[in-house]
Order: sequence, then structure tokens, then C-alpha cells
Amino acid sequence: MSSTTAGGGRGRFITFEGGEGGGKSTQIRHLAAFLMQNGHASLTTREPGGSPTGEKIRGLLLDPDANLDAMTQLMLFCAARRDHVVQLIRPALAGGQWVLCDRFADSTRAYQGAAGHIDAGLVRTLERAAIGETVPDLTIILDIPPETGLARANRRRGENSAADAFEASDLAFHRRVRDGYLAIAAAEPDRCVMVDANQEEGAVADAITKLCAHRFSLRMPPRS
Ligand code: TYD
Repeated sequence: MSSTTAGGGRGRFITFEGGEGGGKSTQIRHLAAFLMQNGHASLTTREPGGSPTGEKIRGLLLDPDANLDAMTQLMLFCAARRDHVVQLIRPALAGGQWVLCDRFADSTRAYQGAAGHIDAGLVRTLERAAIGETVPDLTIILDIPPETGLARANRRRGENSAADAFEASDLAFHRRVRDGYLAIAAAEPDRCVMVDANQEEGAVADAITKLCAHRFSLRMPPRS
């Protein structure tokens, strides 16, 4: 987690979503720099994790030996999210910081709901309990074919270290995750924007800069 000094007014809450290997953390860094040029301090955080207790729960969730079923995962993700929202996200937004979060409630809808086959109504009930009114102002979904994303994630991790419990799932699972995100974007077009992540880093960053500039009335950087 990293943060910069707060400005005035309530901050905005922007979440980054998508399957494995879409480049979320790189794009969050680009956006934080762009926001800074516009005088908006931002706090970068992630899920599962973000708060000290959330990070402890993250250790349980990503342990490849834990063998958790989808329902246990759902409850742990929601518990970690609740703590993250209460301890970190709400106070930061109230203090005027913009919060950039690497994964949030849509990950649970896509991974445990669409891919893990847990009833969507139950997922939404627990989501509301965990986040209350703390709904993102904008959700950027980095879309990439699962084959390409998993290959990128494997390269990034290196040959010798083990995949976490989710990366190790089969391709059919990751296809359902992608379908889950497509359904979320279709159902909530005001909140969610799909960005093609299967292009080079700079092109993805430009697309995100433009859409945030438009949505939040920010100044575009001068052309170089
Ligand atoms: P992480 O190492 O942060 O991966 P990534 O770089 O893909 O974000 O691991 C998080 C994993 O947890 C990722 O595979 C997605 C999964 N996940 C869920 O299944 N449900 C959730 O609610 C969240 C937040 C993450």
C-alpha cells in the first residue's frame, strides 16, 4: 500500500478488476501519477488485503495447500473486505484521498459467483453487508483472453515459484471469470468500463487516462 498527502473534499473511489495477468498494478501506478498531476492525492491498496487484518486473511485465501471450497472463500473475502472498508477505505475517502483499489467486490462476483457457482443472490447479500454504501465511483475492468493473461502471470511469477490457489485453477474456470466480468459490465454500464488490456502498456494507460479525465473533469497531460 502507498499513499500521498490528502487534498480537500471527499475523494473518489476507483477499483481495478479483471482476470489474471491484465496488468492492474502497473495501470494503477500510471493512474496515480496522472491524478497527482491534477493535484489529487491517492491511496493505492489491494484485495484481498489492504488492512493489517485483511492481509492476514489474504494469507489464508491464497495458500495453495488450504483447499478452501468456494463458500469458505466467499466468507473470508467478505470478512477481509469489511475490515478493509472500515479501517482504510472509508477514512481515506472522508479525508479527501482518492482510493485506487486492485480488486474489490466484483472479483467476488466473478470468481466465487460466476466461476465458483455460488448463487448470485447470496454473493450480493454478503457484498452489501461488507461494503454498505462504499460503492466504487468507477470500476475499470482490464479485459484479456484468459490464455494470454495466464501466460503473462506465469512469466511474471517465474518458473520456480508456485501458483496461488486461483492461478492454479483450470482454463474453464478462468473463462467463467471473464464471462462474469462481461456480465457485470453489461449490468452496470454507468459504473463499469471495459478496457482492452491485450495491447501495449502505454496504450492501455492512455485509454484509462482519457476515460478518467472525461469522467472526473481532469486536465489531460500536454502532448509530448
Ligand atoms: P493476487 O496475487 O492479488 O492476484 P492478481 O494479481 O490477479 O490480483 O491474488 C488475488 C487472487 O484472489 C486472484 O486470483 C483473484 C482472487 N480473488 C477472488 O477469487 N475473489 C475476490 O473477491 C478477490 C478480491 C480476489
